[in-house]
Amino acid sequence: MNGNYDIPLFKIHWDEQDVEKVASVVKKGVYWATGPEIKEFEKKISEYVGVEYALALNSGTSALHVLLAAYGMGQGDEVIVPSFTFIATANAPLFVGAKPLFADIESESYGLDPDDVERRITSKTKAIIPIHYGGLPCHIEELKQIADEHNLILIEDAAEALGAMVNTKKAGSFGDSAILSFCAPKVITTGEGGMILTDSRDVYEKALLIYNHGRVGPTDYFSSAEQMEYVTLGYNFRMSTCKS
Ligand SMILES: Cc1ncc(COP(=O)(O)O)c(C=O)c1O
Repeated sequence: MNGNYDIPLFKIHWDEQDVEKVASVVKKGVYWATGPEIKEFEKKISEYVGVEYALALNSGTSALHVLLAAYGMGQGDEVIVPSFTFIATANAPLFVGAKPLFADIESESYGLDPDDVERRITSKTKAIIPIHYGGLPCHIEELKQIADEHNLILIEDAAEALGAMVNTKKAGSFGDSAILSFCAPKVITTGEGGMILTDSRDVYEKALLIYNHGRVGPTDYFSSAEQMEYVTLGYNFRMSTCKS
């Protein structure tokens, strides 16, 4: 580990099985991106968290960006974010021209304080993005209730919280949608990586377009001769093939 820390921030656990699985992707000589392993990975995570749809991306930051675009968020909209989080949570509204509005955190889980969130809601507020800091679930049920009462979208930033639970329900399954991060210090890592989770087919389909150049057509882009259409502004936020 580089740096002068006695206790490193994280340690990646890996074994020969990981090496073999990565090698098996490399040795195919094709599908280093958009391989069938990505679909398998998405299926495993969606089943584990208990949501209908999962979409693997190249980072948690991209996942937040795509979700805000998928919800049509833009100029004039306000998004309530925690005053204590990784910067990507607060940057995400700015990516789409919306305004991040900081709310305070509570001292139990260091997550968004539901009372302060309620105080900060205005006619411009469109969404709330709570995080589960260090895998510790925030007061997500109260935040969901507030979001429902005020007709706001709840996007759970579960970047740090794969596997965290409130009673029997997993973090990432409370919001209208959620994101995960698979960067190096997270619960599991793909090097860089992220995921969108949602039960909404509409949000999933919009995200599917936006993260992939706004392109309609076969997902097997690199080996298909079929006609493709570009119907909306999009990015290349796809994940490189990993082996789950
Ligand atoms: C709370 C939170 N949100 C968003 C992100 C962004 O994820 P990524 O680094 O994969 O872009 C991270 C992690 O870095 C995070 O901890």
